[in-house]
Amino acid sequence: MRIAVIGAGMIGGAVAKALAGKGHEVIATRRNVEKAKWLGEYGVKVIRNNLEAAEWAEVVFLAVKPNKVAKVLGEIREALNGKILVSLAAGVPIKTLKELAPGAKVVRAMPNIAILVGEAFTGYSTTDLEPGEREKVESLLRTFGECLLVDEEHMDAITGLSGSGPAYVSVFVESMIYGGLRVGLPREVAKIAALQTLLGTAKLLMNYEGHPAEIRDMVTTPGGTTIDGIFELEEGKIRTAIMKAIDAATKKSRILSTRTLP
Ligand SMILES: NC(=O)c1ccc[n+]([C@@H]2O[C@H](COP(=O)([O-])OP(=O)(O)OC[C@H]3O[C@@H](n4cnc5c(N)ncnc54)[C@H](OP(=O)(O)O)[C@@H]3O)[C@@H](O)[C@H]2O)c1
Repeated sequence: MRIAVIGAGMIGGAVAKALAGKGHEVIATRRNVEKAKWLGEYGVKVIRNNLEAAEWAEVVFLAVKPNKVAKVLGEIREALNGKILVSLAAGVPIKTLKELAPGAKVVRAMPNIAILVGEAFTGYSTTDLEPGEREKVESLLRTFGECLLVDEEHMDAITGLSGSGPAYVSVFVESMIYGGLRVGLPREVAKIAALQTLLGTAKLLMNYEGHPAEIRDMVTTPGGTTIDGIFELEEGKIRTAIMKAIDAATKKSRILSTRTLP
């Protein structure tokens, strides 16, 4: 497929790389093209002209910051007629996207930065696509990792949970590493021990149909070491802190969703 990625920054660059890696023809744009030159290594052509990229493409991914969405769609709206537009912008509703690009078939999607390793979670929502087109979009989103169609009312919560999630998980891993340093582990040992524990537990939970609490219970021996650790986590209100983080990020996405774009 011929795909344009408008806004080849952090997420747009990862999207362009992932799609090119699966054999799609990709043109990516940004104003400072020098900063996206690295994509050339993966067969992505980088240009400055958004309209040229959108006219050439069959599917257009929009990865500029939310406050640039209106301006960029103003430039390319004519070229989007009859084409699929996948917006990755946080908090920009389908209704707004349709007002800005009335001829486009609009998809609102929220991936995360794990696109870079093909392990993102992408929630997406759409009201426009025929079944065949939905399959086409899913096959593109799967190049990033797992994806799931959700009602648009859940997109802000997806943003707060998995869109921002890599930041929360990084804080957790960083804390584990610091805990390891505190009890005398060499830095590299603490890092690999923390990361492999995260990866292994994620795989375990993915393959387990029950609740994560059951896995926790399995490894918590009466009078053993783990229960002392768990006791401290509970006292530190870790669950409340994580729930509040997701709640706050979701609320912020909702605020972005209701504001008027410039
Ligand atoms: N960061 C995340 O984890 C994440 C996760 C999911 C979704 N998102 C969404 O992805 C979007 C991008 O986020 P980001 O973190 O990747 O931001 P970013 O790194 O700042 O990328 C945005 C890019 O847009 C380019 N740009 C700005 N104006 C442009 C224009 N007129 N034409 C073409 N390109 C233009 C910028 O490059 P120039 O200045 O060189 O033009 C910049 O590289 C946001 O809407 C965000 O909500 C982000």
